[in-house]
Amino acid sequence: MIKLGVNIDHIATLRQARREGVPSVVEAALVCEKAGAYGITVHLREDRRHIQDYDAYNLREILKIKLNLEIAVTEKVLGVALDVKPDSVCIVPEKREELTTEGGLDVKNNKKNLSSVVSKLRKSGIVVSIFIDPDIEQVSACSEVGADAVELHTGKYSLLFKESSSLLTKCKDELNRIAEASKEALKRNLILNVGHGLDYENVGQVCKIYGVNEFNIGFSIISKAIFNGLQKAVFDMKKLIEHNSNL
Ligand code: PXP
Repeated sequence: MIKLGVNIDHIATLRQARREGVPSVVEAALVCEKAGAYGITVHLREDRRHIQDYDAYNLREILKIKLNLEIAVTEKVLGVALDVKPDSVCIVPEKREELTTEGGLDVKNNKKNLSSVVSKLRKSGIVVSIFIDPDIEQVSACSEVGADAVELHTGKYSLLFKESSSLLTKCKDELNRIAEASKEALKRNLILNVGHGLDYENVGQVCKIYGVNEFNIGFSIISKAIFNGLQKAVFDMKKLIEHNSNL
């Protein structure tokens, strides 16, 4: 079965809106763990807009399941990753102005720098993945720089899927691109992960792609949790008020 890594960055987005410690990233991770997630993913962005360094350290200490840290290649963040020692690191491109990771990393044109970063992380016992567009040449480049895994970007597929509830040709083409890139990854003995923009409606088609090891899903799960978890939160609060009113 394909494993589920849950990205909980947006628990931290909410916490950072007030900076009063809630909702707790650790608590969210433990709930995911209890619910059967295979791993937890957090993105330590250069601008620290959501996840903070201490989140990565806390998660490392508390989690029994896999911790996957997403980082861009900057000296400071790489230093934190090497110190935290998550089970895996996914190297992603990063732009300050973007709302979320927009495209895959251009590994093909950055082989020298990436080889050295991958080697540092691997020497530290960390499994290294690289987030790339579903492009055969980028997959080959990941293998050449010594990565253990690729994470294929499903963002374009997800956007195309949203444009129609039926599978448009364009969406099918993008799925085929993901399938072709997947074949190349397996051929090169790379662990095959996929993610970005996956939700309750579009994930089914991606499940059919052969050889996928793991999905990394964040936004749709956290969005759903607002409603699915809210009922109990309201019920518990009502009970608490009721109880205290009777004192
Ligand atoms: N994989 C990578 C590399 C990402 O950067 C993100 C977004 O942080 C995800 C997966 C999860 O994407 P989403 O939040 O759209 O499910």
